Amino acid sequence: DQRRATPPDIRARKGGAPLVVLTAYTTPMARLVDRHCDIVLVGDSVGMVLHGLPSTLGVTMEMMILHGQAVARGLAQALMVIDMPFASYEEGPKQAFRNAARLIAETGAAAVKLEGGAHMAETVAFLTARGIPVMGHVGLTPQAVNQLGGYRVQGRGADADRIRRDAAAVAAAGAFSVVLEKVPDALAREITQALEVPTIGIGASADCDGQVLVVDDMLGMFTEFRPKFVRRYAELGADADRAIAEYAADVRARRFPAPEHVFAMETPA
Ligand code: KIV
Ligand code: NA
Repeated sequence: DQRRATPPDIRARKGGAPLVVLTAYTTPMARLVDRHCDIVLVGDSVGMVLHGLPSTLGVTMEMMILHGQAVARGLAQALMVIDMPFASYEEGPKQAFRNAARLIAETGAAAVKLEGGAHMAETVAFLTARGIPVMGHVGLTPQAVNQLGGYRVQGRGADADRIRRDAAAVAAAGAFSVVLEKVPDALAREITQALEVPTIGIGASADCDGQVLVVDDMLGMFTEFRPKFVRRYAELGADADRAIAEYAADVRARRFPAPEHVFAMETPA
């Protein structure tokens, strides 16, 4: 019988077999992801993927808690990490602790993830010193989309040093792992060699210590746009579209329900 993975377990996987990470936002998806992954991330991508928001900026603590509770019910083995939503931690360490503690206490997640590098190091140190494991997230940080001017690759050319310093700062502050999003392959490899904690890449490098994708992206369920870094392992959106079209045609032609779907007046003997 398998024990739940912990942040120290994940930390200890540095340089070993790649860590497998996917997002989940619901109980049934959490059950599936739990069977195969080391970490399940309740990402604030839930706002775009399930709620139709134009960015992650409108995601609230209440949304994260509701989805976190749903995911927790589906997990037996994987480590559960939950994103801190925009504006729940940036004011300072105390605001961050208060909201991180709520996410942990109300969902059962073992760790939080927050976006930002050097400027978030003090907050990461404050949380980790008080019993809340933190996963860092540097490179493209979607909650800063307006400041960054879009979802472009981060850390090309002279900008590389900023990402190096950001990753080093959150790791030194006590993060047990760091997500590297949309940074050049060579830079992600270099940061992975430099850090003592695992890096988890998304649009980064196959040489990161682990990989993460948004589950609806890799299943072909979320098709509003398709980042270059996504590999589609299924086309569930297209399959659902076909199924719904077939159902509609069957209802309109009175082919559904069929005799086996309806009830006789007499109780069967
Ligand atoms: O919100 C999210 O899904 C994420 C991952 C893509 C890293 O932050
Ligand atoms: Na996120």
